[in-house]
Amino acid sequence: MHIGIIGTGYVGLVTGACFAEYGLNVTCVDRDEEKIKALKKGKIPFYEPGLEELAEKNFKKGRLAFTTNISEAVNSSLVIFIAVGTPPRGDGSADLKYVEEVAREIAGHLEGYKVIVTKSTVPVGTGKRLKSIIGGALRGKNIHFDVASNPEFLREGAAIEDFMRPNRVVIGAESPQAAAILQDLYRPLYLIETPIVVTGIETAELIKYAANSFLATKISFINEMSRLCEKVGADVHVVAKGIGLDRRIGPKFLHPGPGFGGSCFPKDTKALVTLAQENGMELKIVKAAIAANEDQKLFMVEKMKSVLNPLGEKTIAVLGLAFKPNTDDMREAPSIDILNALVAEGARIKAYDPVAAATAKKVLPKEVVYAKDAYEAVIGADAVAILTEWNELRNLDLGQIKKLLKNPNFFDLRNVYDPQKMKEAGFNYHSVGRP
Ligand code: UGA
Repeated sequence: MHIGIIGTGYVGLVTGACFAEYGLNVTCVDRDEEKIKALKKGKIPFYEPGLEELAEKNFKKGRLAFTTNISEAVNSSLVIFIAVGTPPRGDGSADLKYVEEVAREIAGHLEGYKVIVTKSTVPVGTGKRLKSIIGGALRGKNIHFDVASNPEFLREGAAIEDFMRPNRVVIGAESPQAAAILQDLYRPLYLIETPIVVTGIETAELIKYAANSFLATKISFINEMSRLCEKVGADVHVVAKGIGLDRRIGPKFLHPGPGFGGSCFPKDTKALVTLAQENGMELKIVKAAIAANEDQKLFMVEKMKSVLNPLGEKTIAVLGLAFKPNTDDMREAPSIDILNALVAEGARIKAYDPVAAATAKKVLPKEVVYAKDAYEAVIGADAVAILTEWNELRNLDLGQIKKLLKNPNFFDLRNVYDPQKMKEAGFNYHSVGRP
């Protein structure tokens, strides 16, 4: 089968490369000529482990093509995925202008039956809206088409694994024909018995927001517990284990830290709150998860302040800037708010991130100085703070770090190290929610 993917951002490229790996013929489209030129040369514009190799392999085998010409993809494909950006508007709702533009363009090239699928996270009701936009743009031409929703559940840094071995696939379709065609795309997953949830379009659209909001709530919950643990002398990891062993709760996404970030949880929780408001209701739990997340970031600053007081003139080596490991993505990274607050208090920041320094420079305060590795960052610093749990930061030469620091203050905001061992090693060690 031949499929087209419009938009070669994160979702579009991962989806395209993985479907090609499933054996489908995939045409990826983007209006950005430079990007398409680079993709044809095997250059992926962001960092995602394994993606470059997968794209290159399928490109060479002729199963993955890149073009700026949308009609090429529409004509040759039975299924067309829309995977363009849905940036947040000022009020937190998703801006659908790119999705709608693409829908009109697709309509302009339709000549026979196609399934047009949203892959980007879109507000509930978008499928219906696209149906009427495309129907209108066809101006009375008698062409049959279906609209469907197939939300992605890909974690950055682990996207290929998530695509190849998903917990489930969600298909929202309005006709049995569209549902059957989309199920067929995922046939390789039948071997590993992946559950496929087939439902209506609105339900599929809502599943995506509900999943991300629930996961964000889980994180905010454990982050609040970590703060209570600090007050009462309990250990948040044991609390997480103790509750997570209850299968109704589950052990995942109960790792405390400096707050959730990224392009999904912050945006999707806000969009869900807005959607509810537009429908005359208040989502109290999701709102609280967002508020607790803001508090968590500030609490990290308070934690450092209580030890380094005053922060003015103190040098802090910040290790890890990306919102999570294995990505250079700085969108809504907790490091942004935390470093802004530290700089505003007069602290000097020497930062290091294994891959995100270039993206970080665009969004962090200009006062931040960048080091070439963790050891250079800590030279003469009053404290070191781990903000992202990159593997290379999990195995630092602690003897060397201690020697290079001016003062052995260690803020482990991802709970990477063992508190007992750190104290024995002579650090004034502070982590999140552990005695
Ligand atoms: C998230 C979801 O996990 C994916 O299923 C979804 O497809 C994706 O959003 C999306 O909507 O596109 P992602 O944002 O890449 O994926 O990253 P996560 O691994 O979910 O982490 C999000 C944030 O939560 C990070 O800042 C991470 O550090 C934080 N987190 C995660 C915690 O603080 N504690 C945890 O236990 C887990």
